[in-house]
Amino acid sequence: MSKASVLIVDDEPDLLELVSLTLSRMNLATHTAADLGSAQRLLRTEPFDLCLTDMRLPDGDGLDLVAWIQENRPQVPVAVITAHGNVESAVRALKLGAFDFVSKPLDLGVLRKLVGSAIKLGTRGDGGAAASGPRLIGRSQVMHQLREMIARVSRSQAPVHIYGESGTGKELVARLIHESGARSEGPFVAVNCGAIPTELMESELFGHKRGSFTGAVADKKGLVQSAEGGTLFLDEVADLPLHMQVKLLRVVQEKTVRPVGEAREETVDIRILSATHKNLAQLVAEGRFREDLFYRINVIEMRVPSLRERSEDIPELAEAILARLCQRMRIQPPTISPEALQALVAYPFPGNVRELENVLERALTLCSGGVITAENIKLRAVARPLPEAPRPVALDTTSGGGLGNQLEDIERAAIVKALEQTRYNKTAAAKLLGMTFRALRYRIKKLGIE
Ligand SMILES: Nc1ncnc2c1ncn2[C@@H]1O[C@H](COP(=O)(O)OP(=O)(O)OP(=O)(O)O)[C@@H](O)[C@H]1O
Ligand SMILES: [Mg+2]
Repeated sequence: MSKASVLIVDDEPDLLELVSLTLSRMNLATHTAADLGSAQRLLRTEPFDLCLTDMRLPDGDGLDLVAWIQENRPQVPVAVITAHGNVESAVRALKLGAFDFVSKPLDLGVLRKLVGSAIKLGTRGDGGAAASGPRLIGRSQVMHQLREMIARVSRSQAPVHIYGESGTGKELVARLIHESGARSEGPFVAVNCGAIPTELMESELFGHKRGSFTGAVADKKGLVQSAEGGTLFLDEVADLPLHMQVKLLRVVQEKTVRPVGEAREETVDIRILSATHKNLAQLVAEGRFREDLFYRINVIEMRVPSLRERSEDIPELAEAILARLCQRMRIQPPTISPEALQALVAYPFPGNVRELENVLERALTLCSGGVITAENIKLRAVARPLPEAPRPVALDTTSGGGLGNQLEDIERAAIVKALEQTRYNKTAAAKLLGMTFRALRYRIKKLGIE
């Protein structure tokens, strides 16, 4: 077995040396970085079992690195070295996801213990409910299928579209695809397409040249380019305005981008993953999402099941979520009373796993005596049965040829819908779908619609 490896980030050479020496004597491999930028570079390319960072760095602070690691290398535990008595920054670091902190002047005994437990945390790895890395929890059949599918798609470079209700774990699935694939050493760049103002979108995504518009005071790299060598995750892709969809199509199709104000195109090497909780096929039918882009990004599609389709996973999820919350708060996780658990399992969770997290976080503050009771679990009243999952097609992960069928199902649904909307006027339906009359006629025939 190779040595566990630790990244130490500090701009003071003396401290770097002291910590390096201490850790080497613990039979650990050490790497050092003197600033945020080089730490990120190392984290991108090397696997680490722990990162130890000072708070004040020449190009940012330790908190930035903690946040960056949560985003990009969540499996790496990170601890911060804080100035003596600076409790506030230690707390902020913990809230941001640091697993611990140690204050200056360094007590080497304390440091050794912290490092020892961090390393153990890492190797305990899978199986333990307390593992903090991003894992897909759940033993239901649908979760097994999802895991298999992730393993399968991570071996390819094809665009994957992930859909499912809010809070089901779409982003988690995207991260896992990235982490298990050949690009795992490269960056994972998540872009929330619904959160960027329309007028800034092009420059945010593709970058801009200095002076290309008022306020463009320097060259800026786009999010697309910053995913070079890695994965670009387009979250809430349905919210992309139409004019951006055209530009994105070029990225997907030609693997090129043109920054705002730049004459030439640049090539990019990225894999595109996307997600939405909306029904893209329907948006295509309504002319609000480009069909050509839809077919490009939807090469493989995965549905993340709602929590009520897998309510047998709720106990295990609840335990893991509590363990994670309590680890962060550094308290012992409470147990859940049988009645409380029953209430959780029976509840339909319109907000899915995210709602379960919120419910438990609240219960944790309300409970006393180390037990979460049914009274601590405050569930929203859900009046009527919830609508079905957003799309009519189920993910078929069992048969290898399932993808083609799913595409056809979506296509069929979109065409039927457009035909119904236009009272079976094929010319109008074709227009609605953004395809030619001939193409529509051909597809109707091929899909056996009538
Ligand atoms: N199977 C799972 N195992 C463990 N944690 C999960 C699982 N599914 C979801 N989560 C957790 O639930 C939360 C919501 O997940 P995520 O953000 O990936 O959902 P989403 O589908 O992208 O939601 P939205 O549509 O609201 O953006 C996250 O904290 C995630 O870690
Ligand atoms: Mg999301």
